[in-house]
Amino acid sequence: MDIENECLNIDGLSKSYIVNNEQIDIIKNINLNITEGEFISIVGYSGCGKSTLLKIIAGLVSYDIGSVKLNGQEIRQPSTDVGMVFQDHRLLPWLTIKDNIAFGLYDMDKYEKEKIVMEHIQLVGLKGFENVYPHQLSGGMAQRAAIARALVHKPKVLLLDEPFGALDALTRIQMQKEILKIWNKEKTTMILVTHDIDEAIYLGDKVVIMSSRPGTVKKRLSVGIGRPRDRTSYDFSVLRKDIYAEFFKEDYELPDYAI
Ligand SMILES: Nc1ncnc2c1ncn2[C@@H]1O[C@H](COP(=O)(O)OP(=O)(O)OP(=O)(O)O)[C@@H](O)[C@H]1O
Ligand SMILES: [Mg+2]
Repeated sequence: MDIENECLNIDGLSKSYIVNNEQIDIIKNINLNITEGEFISIVGYSGCGKSTLLKIIAGLVSYDIGSVKLNGQEIRQPSTDVGMVFQDHRLLPWLTIKDNIAFGLYDMDKYEKEKIVMEHIQLVGLKGFENVYPHQLSGGMAQRAAIARALVHKPKVLLLDEPFGALDALTRIQMQKEILKIWNKEKTTMILVTHDIDEAIYLGDKVVIMSSRPGTVKKRLSVGIGRPRDRTSYDFSVLRKDIYAEFFKEDYELPDYAI
């Protein structure tokens, strides 16, 4: 990898929480180097620490050991350089879509703000809906608004934590196409966490597979399939099979109540 193009460097990252006086290791010794403009998908069992990892990259959660650097600068607090989209849209219900997207754009001329907000409304395909309230949008539209709200700050890295998890299968596929369009246009480095292996392959340049308890990087796979990708193609199905195999051979302890 060309070291000059590296954008995000995660070195020996570990995080634990103290729960009932006991130290629980959540993620351990994560190493990831992400190049500018890359699209990384992360998959792993529920509870393996994917959201914790994203929140650390966003500067929302502290870490114990290792380092997380964006263009050489250690991340220790939230900044507009890193945007995040969550599974639920988290739009403010009392603000219109336009005002939700404009929220946090301080120190900006009124006309410039209007222009930037409208550009982003257009980018995510919500033109005509700028003056409606979040409850008047469908789930997919609300997620598009959340993506616009994150992108309006021109982040260097956009973190997507299961952003389409609550959407139906068809809307999900539509949103995947749209996120690719946005990625092509904006060239933002993207890190997507998903439970959906097809989504991970369809979107990612690389797929990172995390193991559980504590969360570590188990495997990195280069997707290497030209875009637009065909989910029914041979190469796609080979990769899908490899990723499923990684999960099923994992020594995954069943909970006590499992029969
Ligand atoms: N603030 C906290 N205090 C204590 N434990 C926490 C805290 N936040 C997360 N955890 C624990 O860390 C582990 C990883 O949580 P995390 O939300 O990162 O998992 P995840 O991989 O995103 O799971 P999912 O796929 O279900 O969203 C879980 O066991 C969770 O209980
Ligand atoms: Mg999560």
